[in-house]
Amino acid sequence: MKILFVASELNPIAKIGGLADVIGALPKTLKKLGIDVRIAIPKYGIVDEEKYQLEKIAEGIKINFYNKDEKFDLYQCLLPASEVPVYFIDHQKYLGDNGIYFEKSAMPEDSLREAKRFTFFARSVLEIFEPLNWWPNVIHCHDWHVGILPFLLKSLSLKDKRYKKIAALFTVHNLEYQGHYEAKDISEMLDLPIPEKNIDQNKKINFLKSGLVNSDFINTVSPNYAKEILTKEYGAGLEDVLQKRKNELRGILNGIDTEIFNPENDPKIKYNYSIKNLEIKEKNKLYLQEICGLKQDSKIPLFGLVGRLAEQKGIDLISEIMDEATNLNCQMVFLGTGESKYENALRGAEKKYPEKIKVFIKFDAKLAQEIYAGCDIFLMPSRFEPCGLGQMISMRYGTIPLVRATGGLKDSVKNFQFSIFNIQSTGFVFEKYDHRELLKTIKKALLIFKNKKIWRKMQINGMSQNFSWQKSAKEYIKVYEKLKVLNNYSTLSS
Ligand code: GLC
Repeated sequence: MKILFVASELNPIAKIGGLADVIGALPKTLKKLGIDVRIAIPKYGIVDEEKYQLEKIAEGIKINFYNKDEKFDLYQCLLPASEVPVYFIDHQKYLGDNGIYFEKSAMPEDSLREAKRFTFFARSVLEIFEPLNWWPNVIHCHDWHVGILPFLLKSLSLKDKRYKKIAALFTVHNLEYQGHYEAKDISEMLDLPIPEKNIDQNKKINFLKSGLVNSDFINTVSPNYAKEILTKEYGAGLEDVLQKRKNELRGILNGIDTEIFNPENDPKIKYNYSIKNLEIKEKNKLYLQEICGLKQDSKIPLFGLVGRLAEQKGIDLISEIMDEATNLNCQMVFLGTGESKYENALRGAEKKYPEKIKVFIKFDAKLAQEIYAGCDIFLMPSRFEPCGLGQMISMRYGTIPLVRATGGLKDSVKNFQFSIFNIQSTGFVFEKYDHRELLKTIKKALLIFKNKKIWRKMQINGMSQNFSWQKSAKEYIKVYEKLKVLNNYSTLSS
C-alpha cells in the first residue's frame, strides 16, 4: 500500500499548529504498520536544509502555471526519528519566500499570494510520481491548502490513465479555514475552467469545498466533530455539502506522538517523571513559577494555556472572567500567538495582574512542554475543536484538562463527577459556550484541587489513557484499503 501525505505543515520541519503534529506523527505509525507512506510539503524559506539534511533528487520538473513553463526541483530527507521519506517541492518564487503562511492569523481569506502558493504546490505534487517512479494508491490531502488537489487529480486522470488509479482521501482538520478566491484567478493559474461544484454561495472558488466534493472519501479528526459539522452551528456554511457526502465521511480521533510527548524522557522539561514518581511533577511547577516570575508555591493552583490565539480557542471567554478569576487563589500562564485582539487582551490582563498572570506571545516548543509539565490545570474552553491535542498532551503529563464539551474535547476528556468510589474522570468539562460556565468550572476544579487524593486519582487516570496513534492508524489503513479496492474496480470497469 503506497500513500502520499500532502500538507502545508510538518512537525518538526515546518510547524504552526496541530496540523503539523498530525503530519509529523501519523505517518511514523503507518510506516511501522507496513505502509509505504511518504510526505510532500513545500520547501519554504524557513526549512532548515542543513539540520534535516535535504538532498536534491530531481531537477527542472515542468508544470504549466499562468500559461508559462515553470520548473521546480525536488528535495528529499527522512522525517526525523523515522524511515518516512519527505519530499520538498522547491520553487523560489511561489514556495520559497517567507514562512509557511503569508497571513499572520493563518487565515487564507483575501490573500492571493496564499492561493498562488498552494495551487502551485498542489499542481507540482502531481508531477513528482514519474521522476520518482513511484505512484501512490492514495493521496491523503489535509485541509484547505491542498483542497484543490483532488480536482486537479481528476482532471489529469482524464488524459493520463496512471492518475486514474490514484484515489484521494481528504482530511478536515478545521472547517473554518476554507480559502475563497475569484475562480477567474485560479482558472488563469491552471489554464482550466473551474466547474460549478467547486464554487460556493459567494460565487468564489472554495478550496475546502473543492476538496470535499472531489475526493473519494472524507474524514475529520474526531467522531464528535464529524457529527457536529453536519449541523448549521458547526458546518461553516458547508453543512449541506457534507450532508450529501455523509456516507463517505468518518471521524477518526487523532493520537499524539507518545515518544515525543513522554514526561519520563522529554528532554525539554527540567525534571523527568512518570506515574511512578509523580511527586517530581511539583518540581516542574516550582520551576515554571520561577521562569514566569510568579510566586513559587506548590499550593497555589496553576492554570496553563498553549495554543493559537484564535477565536476558535475561547480566549474571549477567558478575557471575560479575568477579573473574577484573579480574585481566586490561583495563577495563570499563557503561551501562543495569533490575532492581535487576543494577544492584546492577554497582555492587558498580565499588566493588570502581574503577580497572578504571565503571558508569552510567541511560539516556543520548549516552553510549551514546560507548561504541560508544570501546570496543575490545562485550559481549553474552545468554541469548537475538531480534535485538540493539548488536552491529550496535558493528560499524559498529569495536568488535568478543563475543556468545553465540543469536538474532540468531548471525545477525549471524561468529566468529573462527585462520587467517592470509582473515580474514572480525567478532567473538567462544561457544556455551554458562556463565560459564567467557564468560571463555575474553574471554581469546581479549585475545590477538587484541595483534595489531594481525588486529584492524584484523576492525574493517574489521565496518564493511563492510551493516546498513541496505533488505533487511529489502523482505522486509516481500513479506509486506504477500501479506496484501493474501489479504485481498482472502477479503473477496470471503465
Ligand atoms: C487543527 C484543529 C485541532 C486539531 C488539529 C489536528 O489545528 O483546530 O482541533 O487537533 O488541527 O488535527
